[in-house]
Amino acid sequence: MGWVVVCPTEELQDEEAVPFHHAGLPYVVFEADDGTVFCCAGSCPVCDAPLAGAVLDGTVLECPADGAAFDLTDGTSEEDGPPLPVFSVRVVRGRVEAQLPD
Ligand code: FES
Repeated sequence: MGWVVVCPTEELQDEEAVPFHHAGLPYVVFEADDGTVFCCAGSCPVCDAPLAGAVLDGTVLECPADGAAFDLTDGTSEEDGPPLPVFSVRVVRGRVEAQLPD
């Protein structure tokens, strides 16, 4: 696992997904309304749909395909389904970085 530069903080959009790829895999970052930044896998663990169109409500992400909900603080499913992988995030000199598998 290493720190990967994702985007400048200016690219974060209020509660809307900012998609990106690393090592061939999709990820998304979000800025919650309190300014907290989250990073999770870019595909839904339920039916594998892309999460690029997802919107955050507080810390809860709702899958745009079929509505499964996940708490981004730890990835847990609100419906006791499979968890959504989440990753550590930090902001360094105006850039969002995520700690991702190589
Ligand atoms: S793709 Fe079916 S719940 Fe997310």
